[in-house]
Amino acid sequence: MKNIFDNMLEGKVALVTGAGRGIGEQCARRLAECGASVILADLNFPSVEEVAADLTAQGAQARALECNVADFEHLEEKVEEAKAFFGRIDILVNVAGITGSTPITEITQESWDRMMNIDLKAMFFLTQAVFKIMKEQGGGKLIHLSSLAALRGGRSSDASYAAAKAGVLNLSKCFALSGAPYGIYSNAVCPGNILTPMGKSLSWSQKDPKTYIPIGRYGTAEDVSYAVLFYASPMSDYVTGDAMNVNGGLYM
Ligand SMILES: NC(=O)c1ccc[n+]([C@@H]2O[C@H](COP(=O)([O-])OP(=O)(O)OC[C@H]3O[C@@H](n4cnc5c(N)ncnc54)[C@H](O)[C@@H]3O)[C@@H](O)[C@H]2O)c1
Repeated sequence: MKNIFDNMLEGKVALVTGAGRGIGEQCARRLAECGASVILADLNFPSVEEVAADLTAQGAQARALECNVADFEHLEEKVEEAKAFFGRIDILVNVAGITGSTPITEITQESWDRMMNIDLKAMFFLTQAVFKIMKEQGGGKLIHLSSLAALRGGRSSDASYAAAKAGVLNLSKCFALSGAPYGIYSNAVCPGNILTPMGKSLSWSQKDPKTYIPIGRYGTAEDVSYAVLFYASPMSDYVTGDAMNVNGGLYM
């Protein structure tokens, strides 16, 4: 018997930012595995080239795109370049981001602006450019990586990071409201402590997860990719303006 999960995303085109490693890479792999053609965008071009080549070798449709999401002057051009690969964009996964672990008394205006530019402003303007394309196409799925820090404040990460990620949650709802009449969905994912290169740079990665995470282990990029798949697929066709916690019960 055929089930709805086989090639669930066949014919769909997904743009994933921050796809060079960590959560973004796994999201791109997951969507490709479900039949989507994927465009992997990252500041680090060699890394997305490598992932795209691996996906292609496995029979998927994948392309690499060098892209700094905070290069606002060229963002619309980059989105057009992304669209040109397969002629459309049906799914956008905003993953590219940075973090930091500066004490609250030491955050400078420069580091604040950098965080806001990459983690919040870029998310808005990149999504705005893709939103216009989706509106013309008659729909699409927007997924944004927020964070546990957006919900409970930044403990091991910068206050500016927590504030930016809280902004992402709100902007996701704004896109959900503006997009609903056009078949455009917008949802966010709030990961907890996920062992990626970014995660390993934060102080929690030195703790024993059994002592503070109810599920007793750190999260993986794969764990997060399943939540992204849900929002990217028809399984979430009555869900918009939502946010899913993927945190092993760390915060509820
Ligand atoms: N790892 C965690 O525990 C965790 C928890 C909550 C939220 N998140 C969020 O998930 C997302 C991915 O996290 P990760 O752990 O995979 O991070 P990571 O640092 O391992 O990977 C981030 C990727 O984004 C790319 N990138 C950074 N700045 C960019 C820019 N200006 N333009 C384009 N690409 C850029 C990097 O090159 C890298 O490939 C981030 O938005 C992060 O805030 C992560």
